Amino acid sequence: MKVAVVGANGQLGQDVARAFGARGHAVTPLTHAEIEICDAGRVRSVLQSLSPDLVINTAAMLQVDLAEDEPGRAFAVNALGVRNLARQAGQDGFALLEFGTDYVFDGAKNAPYVESDTPHPLGVYAASKLAGEHFVQAYAPKHFIVRVSGIYGAAPCRGKQGENFVRTMLRLAKERGQVRVVEDEILTPTFTADIAARLPDLVETQAYGLYHLTAGGQCSWHEFTRAIFDLAKTDAELLATTRADFPTKARRPAYSVLENAAFKKLGLADLPQWRDGLARYMREAGLA
Ligand SMILES: NC(=O)c1ccc[n+]([C@@H]2O[C@H](COP(=O)([O-])OP(=O)(O)OC[C@H]3O[C@@H](n4cnc5c(N)ncnc54)[C@H](OP(=O)(O)O)[C@@H]3O)[C@@H](O)[C@H]2O)c1
Repeated sequence: MKVAVVGANGQLGQDVARAFGARGHAVTPLTHAEIEICDAGRVRSVLQSLSPDLVINTAAMLQVDLAEDEPGRAFAVNALGVRNLARQAGQDGFALLEFGTDYVFDGAKNAPYVESDTPHPLGVYAASKLAGEHFVQAYAPKHFIVRVSGIYGAAPCRGKQGENFVRTMLRLAKERGQVRVVEDEILTPTFTADIAARLPDLVETQAYGLYHLTAGGQCSWHEFTRAIFDLAKTDAELLATTRADFPTKARRPAYSVLENAAFKKLGLADLPQWRDGLARYMREAGLA
């Protein structure tokens, strides 16, 4: 299969390109310099010259707090940029795989969200990503929407100054010796390599639709940081704090655990537990 990966030098994009290459697919990695998804003409010319069977989009404006101040930019990339890809998919007949976010939910359910649960975004970033999902559903008949949560990987997250949560916590531990982390926000942080490894199987089913794809289990950011510090054997002090004491510009769900219900129904192997993914990531990154 000919596969084009948009955002190919990003955190998730690098692992996705590698996973499809390893499965024997012909992968064309596309960086932002090669394709601007907000430019419909460029999307058309680049993708028509490649005539892919599948386009995987990892490009997004993902600064959750900044999006509150720049809603136009968030919607330009996450909604209208995705619309350009979706319309091209509909016209040219390729399949489109788009990534969504756990933040489309408001957390009120307080139990793992399945794909049929109704989204209720609390902020601009989440609303713009949900709009992107709707454009994919509207224009791209052959689509996969894959919602992920709290991702971290070997490649730097370009939208977050090249850091991920794990590296940020270890940097703060070193710089300050004491770190405060919220204990009242629950999710399932997931290693990007574990997501990427499942995608070729998912795509090969041709069972188009909406999927949740996260590691197993759940934890608070505080519990996640405890595990990071234990694995890194840092003796920095870890203190628990709450969202009330740590206000951010964007509202975030207090609970955004996703259940991989649709994925499991296909009979595909589920992802490992979050602790397992974290330990592997830290070993591979030389952090533990
Ligand atoms: N990070 C998380 O915790 C998280 C959680 C849930 C969902 N997600 C979703 O996961 C996906 C991947 O995120 P990531 O962490 O891999 O992000 P990332 O490292 O910032 O990668 C995004 C890539 O997209 C490119 N890009 C940005 N705007 C573009 C545009 N207008 N046109 C073309 N390319 C563009 C970036 O290139 P430049 O840097 O050169 O602009 C970068 O290569 C996104 O859909 C995000 O919403 C992330």
